[in-house]
Amino acid sequence: MGIESAPCRLFHSLWVILLFLASAQGEITIYHTNNQAAFTTAPGASYSGVAAYDPATLVAPPVPSPTILTTIPVQLQNAGTPNLSIKQKGSFIGFSIEMSVTNQVLGKNSTLIQVPFLNLMANIQQRAGSVTIRVGGNTQESATLVDTLPDGRILMKNLTGVTGRTQTPPLDFTRDMLYLMRNISSFVNVHWFLGIPWFVTQPFDLAIIPASQEILGDYLLGLQAANEPDMYGLHKHRNGTIYGPNGNDYYKPYDYMKEISSLLTQIDAAGDDPTGRAKTILVGPNSANFNWTLQEIWDAGFVDTFTDNLAYLAVEKYPTDNCNAAFGGGPVTDPQTEIANYLTHAALKNLLAPYLASTMYAQTKNKPFLMFETNTASCGGFRGVSDSFTAALWGLDYALQLAHSNFSGAHFHLGGQNVYYNPFTSPPTNQSTFHQWSVGALYYSALVMAEAIGASNQTQVLDIPIQGLSEYTPVYGIYENGTPVRVAIINYVNDPTGANTVHAVISMSGASMPASVKVKRLSAESVVQKGGYTWANQTFGGNFDSDGRPMGTEVIETVNCDTTALTCTIDVPAPGVALVFLTDAAFTENSGAPSVTFVTTAQTKTHNTATVDPSVLSTSNGYRMSGHDLAGTSKAPNNAPRAIQTPLITTLGLALGAMLVLVGR
Ligand SMILES: *[C@@H]1O[C@H](CO)[C@@H](O)[C@H](O)[C@H]1NC(C)=O
Ligand SMILES: *[C@@H]1O[C@H](CO)[C@@H](O)[C@H](O)[C@H]1NC(C)=O
Ligand SMILES: *[C@@H]1O[C@H](CO)[C@@H](O)[C@H](O)[C@H]1NC(C)=O
Ligand SMILES: *[C@@H]1O[C@H](CO)[C@@H](O)[C@H](O)[C@H]1NC(C)=O
Ligand SMILES: *[C@@H]1O[C@H](CO)[C@@H](O)[C@H](O)[C@H]1NC(C)=O
Ligand SMILES: *[C@@H]1O[C@H](CO)[C@@H](O)[C@H](O)[C@H]1NC(C)=O
Ligand SMILES: *[C@@H]1O[C@H](CO)[C@@H](O)[C@H](O)[C@H]1NC(C)=O
Ligand SMILES: *[C@@H]1O[C@H](CO)[C@@H](O)[C@H](O)[C@H]1NC(C)=O
Ligand SMILES: *[C@@H]1O[C@H](CO)[C@@H](O)[C@H](O)[C@H]1NC(C)=O
Ligand SMILES: *[C@@H]1O[C@H](CO)[C@@H](O)[C@H](O)[C@H]1NC(C)=O
Repeated sequence: MGIESAPCRLFHSLWVILLFLASAQGEITIYHTNNQAAFTTAPGASYSGVAAYDPATLVAPPVPSPTILTTIPVQLQNAGTPNLSIKQKGSFIGFSIEMSVTNQVLGKNSTLIQVPFLNLMANIQQRAGSVTIRVGGNTQESATLVDTLPDGRILMKNLTGVTGRTQTPPLDFTRDMLYLMRNISSFVNVHWFLGIPWFVTQPFDLAIIPASQEILGDYLLGLQAANEPDMYGLHKHRNGTIYGPNGNDYYKPYDYMKEISSLLTQIDAAGDDPTGRAKTILVGPNSANFNWTLQEIWDAGFVDTFTDNLAYLAVEKYPTDNCNAAFGGGPVTDPQTEIANYLTHAALKNLLAPYLASTMYAQTKNKPFLMFETNTASCGGFRGVSDSFTAALWGLDYALQLAHSNFSGAHFHLGGQNVYYNPFTSPPTNQSTFHQWSVGALYYSALVMAEAIGASNQTQVLDIPIQGLSEYTPVYGIYENGTPVRVAIINYVNDPTGANTVHAVISMSGASMPASVKVKRLSAESVVQKGGYTWANQTFGGNFDSDGRPMGTEVIETVNCDTTALTCTIDVPAPGVALVFLTDAAFTENSGAPSVTFVTTAQTKTHNTATVDPSVLSTSNGYRMSGHDLAGTSKAPNNAPRAIQTPLITTLGLALGAMLVLVGR
């Protein structure tokens, strides 16, 4: 369960500050201005803006006591390592975008695409080859496809009769939302999941099925059959109660299966799947481990009954929730008591343990198994946890642990302005003329994961079992065709003294270690830092700082190995992550498709002449980006257009030039 973007009560005060800011700056060109200061609270004052930009930080947990193993032997085998995961794709971590915010995140309509969004996706694509996005969430359940909406809008909430704890208003959307998605896929290799509205099943509203097939074609990966159906009883979307005295009448897996059968019958009756493909790309059961165990769903014959219909098995899970803070109804969790739970590997292993039998079962049924929607905590996440470096470390460990556990992918969820956990947030709609995007901690996790897995489709992951290893320093081996190619080391400890710096001593049996290895690092000063994290010394900055391209000079370290001991020792500060590339091939081979990045173009409005970057089209090349500094220099206001490198890029350039993208005015 995510949270969707209800209009925030506090929005007004924020808007007032911004208006002031805009008028104070008058007719000057604002370029990558960091307006963070406007949101910093004075001592003693409390922040009254929206959650996405809340500057409050927590206190980092104390260093572990007793002391932990800091000199860590990482003994790799050149071949035959047991227990490697299934083969994984670089697009393993994708994003789940609450349907109601697509017009803020993707674009205003099919011809006004958000350029920072394209860039954020292009960064992943250049490492992974493609990006997977689910558009849906609570708001998909009552989404209605309508012919037109006022003012040419692509979606609109219908606030008539809003009910339910998450107060999710029904959503109306037009076919142009699907064209927007399709147009995005022409620029960046994004593939999509959508969902079938499931609150009303007699009859189903089938409109999204033919429309999405027709418009998205093969870019549509799958259609969700119900969203968290094991919570339908709790949320009163089905008769019966899961808590009532009579436990017999509650909505059970078997009832859900009857609805899927009915869906298939209704699709046939309506002739809504002329190619027959829609009926083969369903995603289920999408349960939240709330009232149904996966075992009881499998025992009901779910997979065999619908084996021809299901392209993916999927679940949704958040480690915990912050719903009382968002909606009332009980004691509000203090984030300071939560932060330590996000800084241990054990918590993630516990979170995924209930799924291991099912990921093995899915392999026997030849179905990929996805974590369809997840994040740090449902109902918006925790202030200071979900929006700090803690979440970047946790998100990477989680991604690698999901891969190790034989999931085939996961989607980090994002909502509107009033949540803490967004991997990226667009500025409040009509502020996009003078504000850029805010890139959150989980985007960094996704980026590093894309690079850790790469684009070969042959990558396997192992949470390396190491004698005496603490819960604060997980180490993952990353393999291609059975051979170790990369190692990821995470240090969750917060200790500026250096006493908890990890020294990972990597050795290899069955092959010799190289004379040197390359290392890229994910860094911040502390686990509670907000924004400005760096990946290989590049950053997306703080709030409102990013056009979606990494800023700064990329730094790739070369670490010399001990040619006598045949080991390479990698130091990882507390906190931090090191991604170690064991061979040059591991460093260069798995870069995805050459990436194009996109630059927003200028729009002059009557007053606050806010100019976003000038119109150039830059290219970059994944790992080899260091040799092409353009992608890393979006700060320079007068970037000369880079030499156009291929006819394809020229075409894109023209298309983009013609789009003159500037959304949300
Ligand atoms: C493989 O994984 C299983 C289950 O986690 C574990 O019991 C076994 O010890 C592992 N084998 C090796 C060689 O690590
Ligand atoms: C993942 O699947 C592989 C292949 O079936 C298996 O060897 C391994 O033990 C599984 N890992 C886990 C954590 O279940
Ligand atoms: C998108 O919005 C812009 C500005 O409102 C408008 O000019 C354009 O026609 C719209 N495109 C579509 C496809 O509706
Ligand atoms: C809004 O919802 C109400 C109540 O569900 C419905 O009667 C009405 O037709 C909806 N309006 C639009 C524009 O979809
Ligand atoms: C985007 O979608 C519109 C439909 O509104 C279509 O006419 C246009 O050609 C598309 N643009 C691109 C670049 O694909
Ligand atoms: C509950 O049952 C009543 C009576 O059978 C029916 O009219 C109603 O539609 C049901 N509601 C839901 C949410 O299934
Ligand atoms: C689901 O709810 C029913 C009714 O309260 C209860 O009997 C059953 O044990 C619950 N199942 C799980 C897995 O929680
Ligand atoms: C910006 O959006 C708010 C909320 O939708 C609206 O009240 C305001 O008039 C808009 N301002 C401008 C300058 O468009
Ligand atoms: C990886 O798989 C995707 C499809 O899932 C395919 O498009 C891509 O070409 C594959 N990459 C390689 C290197 O085989
Ligand atoms: C890291 O990036 C910063 C900001 O771009 C730059 O000043 C610094 O020189 C870079 N570090 C190295 C070692 O290149």
